[in-house]
Amino acid sequence: MPLYSAQATQDPEAVYNRVCGACHSGQLPMAPARGDQEAWTPRLAKGMGTLVQHVTQGFKAMPPRGLCMDCSAEDYQAIILWMSESKPGP
Ligand code: HEC
Repeated sequence: MPLYSAQATQDPEAVYNRVCGACHSGQLPMAPARGDQEAWTPRLAKGMGTLVQHVTQGFKAMPPRGLCMDCSAEDYQAIILWMSESKPGP
């Protein structure tokens, strides 16, 4: 089965609000914040496969799985795209 062909099964915004947002909403200086294009551009340049692998295995100050124990690779991909594009509300 190709790694990224399957559909994400979880809503990216819901997972962000539940787990990723605890660190990725701007309060942790090292964590690229939601909607922060400047922070996300160099991360996305590593390639989606690398980013998904880093979330799954943990990366520097980020714990393995980004603390989402029931997320699939497809879910991570969808959340990464959502976080890098979606601007925080007013
Ligand atoms: C406990 C805090 C924490 C949580 C929860 C967390 N992250 Fe992170 N994340 C970080 C930090 C800190 C970094 C920056 C690491 C660095 O580059 O020093 C990071 C970096 C990343 C990166 C960039 C990796 C790279 O190779 O540059 C991605 C993608 C990412 N997080 C996705 C997620 C997703 C998706 C979730 C939710 C499932 C999540 N994170 C949850 C703290 C967190």
